[in-house]
Amino acid sequence: MNRQNESENELSGSNHGGQLCAAAREFGLPKNEFLDFSANVNPLGLPAPVKKALKRELATVVHYPDPQCQELIEKLAAYHRVDPETLLVGNGAAELIYLLAQGIASGKTLIPVPTFYEYERAVKVSAGQVIRFHMREDQGFRLDLGHLTQELGGVSAVFLCQPNNPTGYLIPRDSLLSFARQCEQLGIFLIVDEAFIDFLEAAELLSLINVINQFKNLVVLRSFTKIYAFPGLRLGYLVANPSIIKRLRSLQPPWSINSLAQKAGVVALDCTDYVQRTRNLIKQERTFLINKLEKINGITPFPSEVNFILCKLDSTLIDAIALRKFLGQRGILIRECSSFHGLDEHFFRIAVRTHKENKILLNALERLNK
Ligand SMILES: Cc1ncc(COP(=O)(O)O)c(C=O)c1O
Repeated sequence: MNRQNESENELSGSNHGGQLCAAAREFGLPKNEFLDFSANVNPLGLPAPVKKALKRELATVVHYPDPQCQELIEKLAAYHRVDPETLLVGNGAAELIYLLAQGIASGKTLIPVPTFYEYERAVKVSAGQVIRFHMREDQGFRLDLGHLTQELGGVSAVFLCQPNNPTGYLIPRDSLLSFARQCEQLGIFLIVDEAFIDFLEAAELLSLINVINQFKNLVVLRSFTKIYAFPGLRLGYLVANPSIIKRLRSLQPPWSINSLAQKAGVVALDCTDYVQRTRNLIKQERTFLINKLEKINGITPFPSEVNFILCKLDSTLIDAIALRKFLGQRGILIRECSSFHGLDEHFFRIAVRTHKENKILLNALERLNK
């Protein structure tokens, strides 16, 4: 990507997957005809109880939403067994990332890359300084926390994505906890983005939410939009010390979480069977996809713990920009990864979807060698 395109994308925040409107214009197909592997959203779709509740709740949009999100906060507090004072709900995790940058990460902020781009953009928008730490391809993009610790001098905040988008790497919980303790001792804010952790079987054990009371400077960020398949509604939350919550709440616009999203969140938290079915499906289909991808000449999938897979194309094959076009013309969307710092045009990311959908993608990829 050239510098001008890069800065245009930085301004518009447009370099993400799931851009169905743009794809419909580019490839001349109706939005609903695409198989979307470019956004990492639960392939089971909206849980049935959420759909029902949304229909019922529609009549309430003639009123303002509850600015305190009280019902949802109480439900979340019971769900995670935390004090309601430690919770803040946002218009997607994305809104909270921007509030965090404004409120606590507006100084020198350390971000391991490749990772989700909005951390960097939010820090820059808040006039903060971004220090990138490069995870290395020859180490499978694993995060070397020992080396990261050496970069903490003068840093006021660190963003970590757990598991990481787009690499699928999960930091072992013990190492992450000792890193969090180091940050705490140094007075550095540590933001751990667990937007995708719900897709993992051991999510509850892996999450840092259950140790939040031991930290003043730790923030755990979560999203409803991926696991419950409603990115169009926008809903996320964070868990942190009440003093951080107060500071961030004072920066948040009123009514930023609409009533439909609040209700969807309350109902979604009871959809435990749906989450279990999702976890089983993702585990099985991720193994299926990785095994099949490994057999396609010129494609190397990276190991993943979650509901998406990073892949590299051999330079003898077409690059990922051309691959995106090749598949897009066939109604299949993937995320080409050249806009991620630390990756280039040889990388692409796919979401793990249903067996039938995954087979369609694999068939199209197999055609590359014919
Ligand atoms: C790692 C990560 N965090 C946060 C978000 C934003 O989530 P939300 O839809 O809740 O704003 C995304 C979206 O892709 C993401 O990949």
